Parts: sequence; C-alpha cells; structure tokens
Amino acid sequence: MSVWTWITLRIWTTICSVVKRDCTPHSGTRCVPCVDGTYMNQPNGLNKCFPCSSCDQGRGLFAKQNCTSTSDTVCDVIAGHFCTDPIEDEDEDEECRSARRHSDCEPGHRVKERGTRRTDTTCEPCPAGSFSPEGVNCSLWTTCSENQVEVKGGNLTSDTVCGAASGGRHGLIPVPVVVLIMVEIGTLVVLWI
Ligand SMILES: *[C@@H]1O[C@H](CO)[C@@H](O)[C@H](O)[C@H]1NC(C)=O
Ligand SMILES: *[C@@H]1O[C@H](CO)[C@@H](O)[C@H](O)[C@H]1NC(C)=O
Ligand SMILES: *[C@@H]1O[C@H](CO)[C@@H](O)[C@H](O)[C@H]1NC(C)=O
Repeated sequence: MSVWTWITLRIWTTICSVVKRDCTPHSGTRCVPCVDGTYMNQPNGLNKCFPCSSCDQGRGLFAKQNCTSTSDTVCDVIAGHFCTDPIEDEDEDEECRSARRHSDCEPGHRVKERGTRRTDTTCEPCPAGSFSPEGVNCSLWTTCSENQVEVKGGNLTSDTVCGAASGGRHGLIPVPVVVLIMVEIGTLVVLWI
C-alpha cells in the first residue's frame, strides 16, 4: 500500500464510520455509517462495525455515555457500589466490567472508611465503653444517674440498661400508698410539734 493510498484510506475511515468493502489502490473506498447498536472508533479498513457494549445493572453498572456510531458505550459504577473488575487502562477514570454493593459493617463495629467507586467500606470494632446496634456509628454507654442502678451492663451491641434504685419498680407503687405514707409523715410531724 502506497503512502498516498494509506492517507486516503485514513481520511475516508475518519470521515465515515466503516469501509463498505476492502479497497485496492485503484478501486477507491466507499464508507457507510455504523447502524444502530454498532460503532467504529478507529480509522481502519474493516468492513464491519463492532457491537456496542451494554452496562449490566445486575453487575452494578449504568451507561454514563451512550453508544454512538463512532464510540462505544461508557459504563460507570452505580452509586453505593465499587468496582471489582476494573478494565486496566492508563486512563485515570478507568472503566469497569463489574461492581458490587458496598458492604455493611456488623453490629458492634463502625464504618472506618466509607466505600468509594474503587474501594469497599472498611469497618473497625467499637472502642471500649461504646456500642453499635446497626454497625454504623458507636455511641458511649449511658452512665446511670445516682438515683438509678445498672440493671444490665452495656456490651458491643447494646447500651447499658438503668433502673430505678431501691426496689427497682419505679412507677409501680400505687398512688394511694404514696398518699398514705405522706399522711403518715404529716401526722408524725404534727405529733412531733
Ligand atoms: C442513553 O439513552 C437512553 C435511552 O435512549 C436515555 O434514557 C439516557 O438518558 C441516555 N443516557 C445518556 C447518558 O445520554
Ligand atoms: C455516623 O458516622 C458517619 C461516618 O461513618 C458520619 O458521617 C455520620 O455523621 C455519623 N452519624 C451520626 C448520627 O453520628
Ligand atoms: C449484649 O446485650 C444484649 C442485651 O443486653 C444481649 O441480647 C446480647 O446477646 C449481648 N451481646 C453480647 C455479644 O454479649
């Protein structure tokens, strides 16, 4: 192929999507655009367009850029997912073949670093003296007040349970009993005076 033929071919295939039939130095080239669902992104002598890739939602992907007759679909990772099968590329904004939802942390743990489109969530156990029922954040155990007793100690997943002191049946003493006691005290005070 002469340099001139090569240049002509390159111009043709740049302008048009695809060469209709292979060219010979004297036949010239005829180009046709790629039909829907196919594309050609490089000038060449090929006479068939490539089929467009699709972005599988089941693999955590969506189409960031739709296919055109001169460029393939560009898939990206759906929010809340990270890429498990990146397409190696010197490009920083690499493409992805498959992604997975960010993991949740177990109860008793908290999120150390939130997942990104490239990395999964990282978790760490709650620090001593704190708990996390959902596995998101850790909260310090409640300290029971002076007129309460600790009914149940806190652990990694549950808070401390506090109860009323003496008797521990706060709210269960019937009102008449309270009134009676107060009357008794009143009587004692009156008698004392
Ligand atoms: C891609 O095409 C679909 C349907 O034709 C459209 O709903 C969507 O918005 C397009 N996406 C982009 C990124 O242009
Ligand atoms: C929970 O933790 C996340 C970081 O892991 C933080 O952004 C968020 O503000 C916290 N929420 C509460 C209610 O503390
Ligand atoms: C933490 O305490 C809760 C309620 O008090 C209990 O149900 C749970 O089994 C405890 N978890 C551990 C790991 O001890």
